Amino acid sequence: MTWRRTIGTLVAVASLVAGCGKPAITAVVDDFIGNVAGDTRINQRFANADIPRLKRMLVDQICQASGGPCTYTGASMKDAHKGMKITDAEFNALVEDLVKSLDKFKVGAQEKNDLLGALGGMKPDIVNQ
Ligand code: HEM
Repeated sequence: MTWRRTIGTLVAVASLVAGCGKPAITAVVDDFIGNVAGDTRINQRFANADIPRLKRMLVDQICQASGGPCTYTGASMKDAHKGMKITDAEFNALVEDLVKSLDKFKVGAQEKNDLLGALGGMKPDIVNQ
């Protein structure tokens, strides 16, 4: 997937929290990472991860895509996950963890469906790379 497509995906994600600004994005990302940390299906993947950086990167990705003022300075999704051989099941587990946070923050069914479609678009750059 191209970088432009990634940004398109992130715009879809950002639309879920549009108008709420960086604090709302940060709250969703914090909750989501908390879910991942407690998810034994995938938490080993993040054993050596720099979690504060990962959170910052996720917030910046979404914040930039929703019009700034943040700038995403991290790797492309392809480069970020290269060589990890992330499976379909692992990808789905992470999406599930995100959906839990979206439910908690009362994101509606339509927006959730839009997001699931958008995440599906990022999948080829993340799974089996
Ligand atoms: C839509 C799904 C996903 C998105 C949006 C995403 C996003 C990101 C971002 C923004 C980074 C940071 C890049 C950087 O530091 O420059 C990252 C790194 C990483 N991701 Fe993902 N990711 C996704 C799925 C997954 C999955 C399914 C796994 C494994 C189960 C995973 C494991 C990791 C790991 C281990 C890192 C490196 C963290 C570190 O070394 O500090 N990601 N991801």
